[in-house]
Amino acid sequence: MEQGATAGFMEYFLEGAKNAGAEVEVIYVHKLDIEPCTGCFNCWIGTPGECIQDDDMGPIYDRVKDTETIVLGTPVYVDGMTGIMKTMLDRMIPLMRGKVEIINGHCRHPPRHSIPNGKIVLVSVCGFAELDNFDPLIAHVRAMAKNMQREFVGAVVRPYAWALPMLMKQGMDLTDIIQATIKAGEEIVRDGIFQDETLQIVSREILPQETVADMISRQFQ
Ligand SMILES: Cc1cc2nc3c(=O)[nH]c(=O)nc-3n(C[C@H](O)[C@H](O)[C@H](O)COP(=O)(O)O)c2cc1C
Repeated sequence: MEQGATAGFMEYFLEGAKNAGAEVEVIYVHKLDIEPCTGCFNCWIGTPGECIQDDDMGPIYDRVKDTETIVLGTPVYVDGMTGIMKTMLDRMIPLMRGKVEIINGHCRHPPRHSIPNGKIVLVSVCGFAELDNFDPLIAHVRAMAKNMQREFVGAVVRPYAWALPMLMKQGMDLTDIIQATIKAGEEIVRDGIFQDETLQIVSREILPQETVADMISRQFQ
């Protein structure tokens, strides 16, 4: 959580968002009691819009209903998001209606609460060196945003983010990466889009692939 590479990276992004005037609230899903969706569909039939489970999802429903930009922060776990993040997202279905509409040639459940300019951003780190480690996660979040009828603005991703504090301690200058991560936070609030160049600096190569592989191997030997 607060000690992790995701949180450290997210802090820079949120610093930028706050600089640009955003009101920011951070929720650690891992600290909450969130039970898995049972697939009972009471939230669409018996108690429309309400989940019958009584756990910590209540405040999240309230937030999602009126939050302009949802920033999902997760490390890559087994080529996707963390289990608890997925469990939380499964529980979002009370915010959708059961009936299906064909929207842009695709079956969709319309949202109960439409947020004008509603956006979703992914902020993620992974252990390995390659950018394609984020591909399945980005595809997933992009698809999910469409279902929630929110715009997927983009992904701010940093491979081997775990190494950054260590490398900076050793004297490596990574200021451009930190500054670009802060700038990405500013851009989403100020412009509603990311500049490609900003995202490229955030995820730029720092070390050769072989060095990253060696560092990981040494940690676990
Ligand atoms: C269960 C598990 C699965 C992981 N799967 C991947 C993976 O598929 N690809 C990858 O590049 N890193 C993977 N990692 C590495 C994490 O993404 C990396 O350690 C990250 O920095 C963890 O972020 P955190 O410190 O915020 O928890 C995995 C780590 C764990 C614990």
